[in-house]
Amino acid sequence: MTNGMNVAKKKVLITGTNRGIGRALVNEALKRGAKHVYAAARGSQQITDERVTPLIIDVTNASQIQRAVDKVDALDLLINNAGIAFYDDLTNPDVVEQHLAVNLFGPLRMTNAFLPLLKRSKGAIVNNLSLVALAALPMIPAYSVSKAAAFNMTQSLRALLAAEGVSVHGVVLGPIDTEMSRGLEIPKASPESAAAGIFDGLEQGEDEIFPDPASESIAEAWRSGAVKAMERQFGGFVPQTGASRA
Ligand SMILES: NC(=O)c1ccc[n+]([C@@H]2O[C@H](COP(=O)([O-])OP(=O)(O)OC[C@H]3O[C@@H](n4cnc5c(N)ncnc54)[C@H](OP(=O)(O)O)[C@@H]3O)[C@@H](O)[C@H]2O)c1
Repeated sequence: MTNGMNVAKKKVLITGTNRGIGRALVNEALKRGAKHVYAAARGSQQITDERVTPLIIDVTNASQIQRAVDKVDALDLLINNAGIAFYDDLTNPDVVEQHLAVNLFGPLRMTNAFLPLLKRSKGAIVNNLSLVALAALPMIPAYSVSKAAAFNMTQSLRALLAAEGVSVHGVVLGPIDTEMSRGLEIPKASPESAAAGIFDGLEQGEDEIFPDPASESIAEAWRSGAVKAMERQFGGFVPQTGASRA
């Protein structure tokens, strides 16, 4: 747990904002009084609100990310939301690489690129992860691998950036009613309710945010479980004085 962040009057950058949960996050941030939202997507977007600046960012493209950094003067919150999920069976390693490129290295590149601004503001990073980061869903194993890796990365970043005053949060999303989950005939939460749950969890300073009914059902067990205790123990090994991550 950290002190938490209320998004009101904050400058926020969200990836993958042209649809799904990303778009809902933009709307929710504006509803909650964000000062400015940088809405990043691979293509152009119809933006009418003057508090929103569209950015072109494919999270696998280092030079596009750098061009975006040059357009952002200050930042309090980075939300790594962009993601891909394809059905596979692990027979083709290229599919695993494709998932890692977007779902793991995308957030890592974005974090490293915007970290100087986040350190300056003592800001926060939110990574949109998934229940399948904790237990593989074998119909989408490559996706599961990539979210498990991103979850693990989130734990390390949390420990490494604590001394800089930057908090790092992982969102353990259950099924949400977007394009990504179109083939799944199971109960799904709306992207709008998930977006609200994400900002509520951030405000409460939760390390892991469980923003929908399916993920909420494991929240208590997770928080008091052996894995969380071990994360705290391992995180405690990181020196908290004079940390100097670029
Ligand atoms: N929906 C669920 O049930 C669910 C469950 C657990 C976790 N999540 C996670 O929640 C996040 C949002 O998912 P969603 O449900 O909103 O999915 P979605 O509707 O499929 O939207 C995915 C978004 O990511 C963008 N994107 C994909 N590859 C990108 C890249 N290389 N660079 C930049 N943007 C890229 C897409 O842009 P384009 O339009 O250009 O493709 C789109 O805006 C993802 O991280 C996903 O893994 C979703």
